[in-house]
Amino acid sequence: MMSAEAVASMQAPRHFRVEIADGVATLLVDDPGEKVNTIHPALMEEFVALVDRLEKDDAVRAIVLASGKADGFVAGARIELMQTVKDAASAQRLARDGQAVFDRLERLRKPVVVAIHGACLGGGLEWALACHYRIAADHPRTSLGLVEVQIGLIPGGGGTQRLPRLVGIQAALDLILAGKTVKARKALKLGLVDEAVPPAILLDVARDRARALASGKLRRERRPARKGAVESVTRLALEENALGRQVLFRQARRTVLAKTKGHYPAPLRAIDAIEHGYQKGFAKGLEKEAELFGQLAVSDVARRLMEIFFATTALKKDSGVDDPAVKPRKVERVGVLGGGLMGSGIAYVTVNAGLPVRIRERDDAAAAKGLSAVGSILDDRVKKRSIDRLERLEKLRLLTATTDWSGFAEVDLLIEAVFEDLALKQEMVRAFEAVNPRGIFASNTSSIPITKIAEASAHPETVLGMHYFSPVNKMPLLEVIVTGKTSPEATATAVAIGKKQGKTVIVVRDGPGFYTSRILAPYMNEAAQLLVEGASIEDLDHALVEFGFPVGPITLLDEVGIDVGDKVGKILHGAFGARMAPPASLHDVVAAGRLGRKNRKGFYTYDGKEKRVDETVYDLLPGGRSRKRFAPEDIQERVVLQMVNEAILCLGEGILRSARDGDVGAVFGLGFPPFRGGPFRWADAVGTRKLLDKLETLRTRHGERFAPAPLLVERGAAGTPFHR
Ligand code: NAI
Repeated sequence: MMSAEAVASMQAPRHFRVEIADGVATLLVDDPGEKVNTIHPALMEEFVALVDRLEKDDAVRAIVLASGKADGFVAGARIELMQTVKDAASAQRLARDGQAVFDRLERLRKPVVVAIHGACLGGGLEWALACHYRIAADHPRTSLGLVEVQIGLIPGGGGTQRLPRLVGIQAALDLILAGKTVKARKALKLGLVDEAVPPAILLDVARDRARALASGKLRRERRPARKGAVESVTRLALEENALGRQVLFRQARRTVLAKTKGHYPAPLRAIDAIEHGYQKGFAKGLEKEAELFGQLAVSDVARRLMEIFFATTALKKDSGVDDPAVKPRKVERVGVLGGGLMGSGIAYVTVNAGLPVRIRERDDAAAAKGLSAVGSILDDRVKKRSIDRLERLEKLRLLTATTDWSGFAEVDLLIEAVFEDLALKQEMVRAFEAVNPRGIFASNTSSIPITKIAEASAHPETVLGMHYFSPVNKMPLLEVIVTGKTSPEATATAVAIGKKQGKTVIVVRDGPGFYTSRILAPYMNEAAQLLVEGASIEDLDHALVEFGFPVGPITLLDEVGIDVGDKVGKILHGAFGARMAPPASLHDVVAAGRLGRKNRKGFYTYDGKEKRVDETVYDLLPGGRSRKRFAPEDIQERVVLQMVNEAILCLGEGILRSARDGDVGAVFGLGFPPFRGGPFRWADAVGTRKLLDKLETLRTRHGERFAPAPLLVERGAAGTPFHR
């Protein structure tokens, strides 16, 4: 039993549940009112007070740290804290405070075993690293990682020092520099945890090990974990001596630079901190870590990445409609029309969310193909151990397919992904309503106005767009498109289902190209225009990749299909007139049978091992094979400003509900560089006044397509930003 004094001074901790039995105190982290545990000063203070007491308590011989939440252990430090830091020094202090707590824990005279289930990320993993023995629940949802670089930071609670000493330098670099997470079994292999056990016995095993450690039956020293982590003897030798480590760090810096183009400083600073710790020792390493953490915390890149994080979090709580009284309809069954590339992907994310799905296809063969496409995504996940066989079966059981309308009277929501053809989509609307007049009809069209599709409906309030991105199982964004007639209930329902499917959902108003395709079109047109003016394909792609896009515009055209780009371009040209006219040469390229990667013939050739520019494509363009040099900055300015100005037009016209949505849509849908925060954050960083000037200059030089959006004229004149 716990001593009376200890119990009195502990007086019902707010963030922990404490159970003491058989000499073992179990601390269950349970931040009140929160779905997941995060680390913050009040919680840490209480933790220190608890361990102080328990250390003195003779009734307690060992401690088990675990989570009282069903969802997971600790998801990281509370990121909101970082928004309140004024300067690098205060962020550094925050890190030092956290380090001090974990130091205290590591030095505790009684053994502490940590039992991990679910997310154990960032500061959560640093907490676990300071414990003396780690056990993870062997379950697909258990994930461990130091993910700080994802928001532009480095671990600040000792992670850069403890992790490499536990799993070896190379394994630690692999995890920290990419912000990667691993599951229980991989963690065991790396030596990151000492055991992986079935979830049901996690706590029992942890208490058992705690007692064994206390009695000396189990040794408290760290296992020689590198055994599993280091794949080769050469690698081990490298890590053992200073010169070898130098080689490792140099290699790591080179790899990071090649990957990030120098846009993301955090991984480099993480290497600095780790290296410093090996040169000057653990304590100095911690100091360095906190210092670098402080600098990064107030950097622009970290700010932008955190803003995106907050925008995404805010969207998770956003119902998509302004009236809080509006509730989404209960959806118990979903129908999917068309089991092709998009339809099968949509069916997968839906059954994955636990909802029954019925696919309707044209014939048996197509239906079977749709089913097996979903099956192979699930197989892939079983192979990667993110689900087990039983879960795969459970999900597959939710899926049926048919070639008629049977079963569609029972669906609450229908998502249509048949061919891109207005007449066909309208026919689908009428046929669906004939069997299910109340059901919500969502179209995944990429370019047809939803208003047009809704014209076929007797209940246009139930018609909207749910625009997914390919591949649906990987791309995070869903653009929900509403017409003037779509009911708020239908909107809220589509948003709720999108979130269930794991998507970040933005709601936009119907209009040609909606939001994402609309801002992509002028960006692509400008790149094509530069090509016509004589720029080389390499220079164009290179310039935009340097700006931070994952691929350049010409590569993107090849990937999407030049014919597809041409088709969408034509639609938007029709809708917006001359300013969105794609250069005529693009049609010539398509007419010459070049469709892009899909027929291995585009701006690049795909015959050899390496993707190379196909010089013969220049024969179809003005200027032929002799190309002119354009400065990368000029290319970036023209192409990016086309996109940003169009985004501002969308906000001004009410296509977008907010600048936040515009940023999230561009980053998650189009790969707008995350460290620039999205078109509106970027516009704010440049300054609206300066941006306006730039556009006016380009307008004089290149014509009316650069006419600044009225909203920018307004903001620029006053010098006010888009984000408060
Ligand atoms: P797809 O050609 O792979 O699939 C279309 C499927 O619809 C085919 O399996 C076809 O058999 C089926 N289908 C045709 N008529 C049907 C009918 N009357 N009843 C039932 N099934 C029928 O095409 P994909 O790429 O999946 O595109 C589908 C829709 O998604 C299109 O509207 C497209 O614009 C849109 N979209 C496509 C994206 C992409 O990247 N491919 C991205 C976003 C939207």
